[in-house]
Amino acid sequence: MLALKKKTAALLAVCIADKFGEGLLTEDEIFGMLEYPPDKNMGDLALPCFRLSKTLRRSPVDIAKTLKDSFFCEEFSEVSALGGYLNFKISPSKFARRVVTDVLTHGEKYGSGMTGEGKTVVLDYSSPNVAKPFHIGHLGTTVIGHSLKLLHEFEGYKCVGINYLGDWGTQFGKLIVAYKLWGDKKTIEEGGVDELVKLYVRINNEIKAEEEASGDSKHSDLGDRSRAEFAKLEHGDGENLELWRWFVSVSLEEYEKTYRQLGIEFDSYKGESFYTDKMPAQVEKLRNMGLLELDDGASIVNLEKWNMPVCLILKRDGTTLYPTRDIAAAVYRYDTYKFDKEIYVTSAAQSLHFAQWFKVVELMGYEWHDKLVHVPYGTVSINGAKLATRTGNVILLKDLFREAIARVAEITREKHPDEAECMEIAEKVGVGAIVFYYLSNNRMRDINFMMEDALSFEGNTGPYVQYTYARTCSVLERVTGDVAMTEAELSDVEFELAKTLSVFPERISAALAEYEPSIVTRYILDLAAAFNRFYHECKIVTCEDEALKSSRVALTKAANTVLKTALRLICMQTPDKI
Ligand code: ARG
Repeated sequence: MLALKKKTAALLAVCIADKFGEGLLTEDEIFGMLEYPPDKNMGDLALPCFRLSKTLRRSPVDIAKTLKDSFFCEEFSEVSALGGYLNFKISPSKFARRVVTDVLTHGEKYGSGMTGEGKTVVLDYSSPNVAKPFHIGHLGTTVIGHSLKLLHEFEGYKCVGINYLGDWGTQFGKLIVAYKLWGDKKTIEEGGVDELVKLYVRINNEIKAEEEASGDSKHSDLGDRSRAEFAKLEHGDGENLELWRWFVSVSLEEYEKTYRQLGIEFDSYKGESFYTDKMPAQVEKLRNMGLLELDDGASIVNLEKWNMPVCLILKRDGTTLYPTRDIAAAVYRYDTYKFDKEIYVTSAAQSLHFAQWFKVVELMGYEWHDKLVHVPYGTVSINGAKLATRTGNVILLKDLFREAIARVAEITREKHPDEAECMEIAEKVGVGAIVFYYLSNNRMRDINFMMEDALSFEGNTGPYVQYTYARTCSVLERVTGDVAMTEAELSDVEFELAKTLSVFPERISAALAEYEPSIVTRYILDLAAAFNRFYHECKIVTCEDEALKSSRVALTKAANTVLKTALRLICMQTPDKI
């Protein structure tokens, strides 16, 4: 559609200049004004003439009529003037031929504008906190983040995906104490991160109990011991360092299983610990620039002028904080990657944190401060239940996936008795169902996850779109020889399918511009609906008219190609059979 819109805008520009004089509207402005009429009986594209009406002091109806009489473009079968709009009807067959040929020529590259060539984007996403549960609250950062990476790669950007592991901090002091008191090597080797989480939950509960018993919410014996162990770790104590490394690797092994199910790989796992020795230089710079102020013993940057609370840089005891580390990490990443953009995907609860340290980086005079982008998202609950992290009352991502896979397997087993094959499909469909459900909404919307709805094969779900994709595969399996569009006349459903295929590049641009993978998800639903309508109304492989059959097969191939690309871009797999 983009190509046709551009062509129409260019022709209209000439036409308007000719009829009403030069310099009224540029080609780009006209392009921006072109609309898709709400009712396709009016036309497939329309130019509203109201803006021109103001400048020309003529009625929009009159302007539309004048333009209609002098406009010609062979792509349109009809041009009409209606209520201040100039409406264009596309010649279906010609248009479909051009679109489908375009898709088939570009294959899996169709839809990419390649505007990112020569540019680098760093993406910071997923980033779970080691030894704390990897729960459904992380689904957002993981799949939105990875989808944004895939979208940028598709657009030609060089991308660096960073998992900024929460692998440093006082929780390790707690974990070391808990392990020394109650832990056991073998249990953890066998049970993995779940056992670490158990220890972590237990020590938190016991600290709380101690505090409640003493009535002192700041001190407890276990709390003090945890702080001491963390201090030892920070000073390089051998035993604690070894334990810490082990905790991190046990956790990573677990996360990687989940990432594999989602088809996610990271380019870097440099977590918080990596920046420990990179913070002092930034604190120094802040101090030398006179940006640090003392506030009740802590070092802060005052952000009052920008209507934000102070940004904490050093605690009273001189230890660093979350913002300090993010600043050091951004400096390191800019020096390393010279990024054109750095994207952070986290829950909206962290929006203030990002706004604050982005401002600090600006005040520090880093000229790349405007290349930092925070992409927030809303909260997730499951079947109506809210999550609580500290108490261990959480739904783990891997359990959610496991349940989805098991439920899908029950259905798949009927058609695919071979267990290995059944499980392979069930994993792709089960995990895909959750991803699709999650990415169906605008990212800022709070989501209540309903398992039943996500797994349904009916309605706007992952299984439904994957099934549609498998359907295109099974049609294509039954044809041999070249696939090409012919001169055959096409009907409405075929034209609608071609039109849907044609807007894919625009949707990709919008998804990138708004950092919104759900635009792709919704596009997939449009495309699946258009294909299914076509599939139900038109004979494809059994069509007797050879020319028409060829065009229909080509349409199917184009739908197959675009569905595959689009699903891949939102982290979904595309099994050929379901
Ligand atoms: N580990 C953090 C959390 O789980 C998210 C880190 C986000 N990235 C960052 N650069 N701050 O809340």
